[in-house]
Amino acid sequence: MAVMPDPTRWTAAVDLFTRVFDAHTTLVAGAPGRVNLIGEHTDYNDGLVLPAAIDRHVFIAARRNDSGRVRLAASAFEDRVEFPTDDPGRPALPVWARYPQGVAVKLRARGISIHGFDAAIAADLPVGSGLSSSAALEVASALVMEAISDHALPPRERALLCRAAEVEFVGVPSGIMDQFASTLCRRGHALFLDCRSLETHHIPLGATLAIAVCDTGMARVLAGSAYAQRRQECADAVTALRKAGLKIASLRDLTLDDVPRVERLPEPLRRRARHVLTEDARVVETATLLESGQPGGLRDVFSASHRSLRDDYEVSSRELDAMAEAALDAPGCVAARMTGAGFGGAVVALVQRAAGDAFLAAAAEGYRRRTGREGRLFLTEAAEGAKLLEGRDSGLGTGD
Ligand code: GLA
Repeated sequence: MAVMPDPTRWTAAVDLFTRVFDAHTTLVAGAPGRVNLIGEHTDYNDGLVLPAAIDRHVFIAARRNDSGRVRLAASAFEDRVEFPTDDPGRPALPVWARYPQGVAVKLRARGISIHGFDAAIAADLPVGSGLSSSAALEVASALVMEAISDHALPPRERALLCRAAEVEFVGVPSGIMDQFASTLCRRGHALFLDCRSLETHHIPLGATLAIAVCDTGMARVLAGSAYAQRRQECADAVTALRKAGLKIASLRDLTLDDVPRVERLPEPLRRRARHVLTEDARVVETATLLESGQPGGLRDVFSASHRSLRDDYEVSSRELDAMAEAALDAPGCVAARMTGAGFGGAVVALVQRAAGDAFLAAAAEGYRRRTGREGRLFLTEAAEGAKLLEGRDSGLGTGD
């Protein structure tokens, strides 16, 4: 079903553009954030993930200029930044601007010369809640830069390029899930992604389920350093298992037959490897339950994932545990677990659509009672991947 985009969603970006650059925009791109339904800390182990894009976006309103420079303004930040199109990586810019800058660097490295443009960025996607606002910013930036420069990358290549920008230019060692979700997801569906082969398929969530994002309101402290540490521990577990004679290239290759060997690893490698092995199986189980229209079975699978992340992978927090419990106790909750890298951020819940408001009220109250804190909870839909929203009339393609 085609859905008409609603231009009031990106008014903030267009208004900011008009204020800062004193001109009208010629194109607007929007890229969604994501929640991961299940498959946590598996992407960088070549494993399986099941994210869904959410109906919260980073919007970029833009217009070509003839200055040979990219000039950027963002509603969430004071600074106005710019970089030259012929050497985009040169200036040292504030962190938020390094994401679009990195995309420009990678496009140029691919032989795509970017035309100069002015752009304003605004978002209705919370930043720092583990909903992939950085991937959304990268993907929206790529769409704008391609369109401005009369190029259109195939969506998968756009996702890979954005991920390379984040890892190699910004310096965040993330996996491939977020950029793929922001680029390839379909409305009403979760995206089953094999992070080794990059094969995807779209799994319908069904008409009765809504997605609830239950943000603990706690900044993701330690997220950077602990994330890198977990990656290292996974690499160390692979090395140890190979020394022990297992022919594996990554933890993805472990099967249930390997469990006895995994159990003999030293701590914490034993528990780290066990999480990845069991989590991959839970992704397959979740996909099967959704595809066979049996969402009731998801409760146990999501809860097992949460426990594994809490006890084996050690990336949960007191607040995430409390939010997951509060969500599970709330009416209409089908399943709930922490989502994203952890150490703060949000819980994802699948909720009976008809009970959505009652769920939100009860889960918020349950979290308040358990922690004394205010969470930020909202219902959302599984959304379509990133798109050029305005600007088609100018003859510029989206690449989709
Ligand atoms: C972050 C990363 C992803 C993924 C998750 C954990 O969101 O950006 O690539 O590793 O953590 O599943």
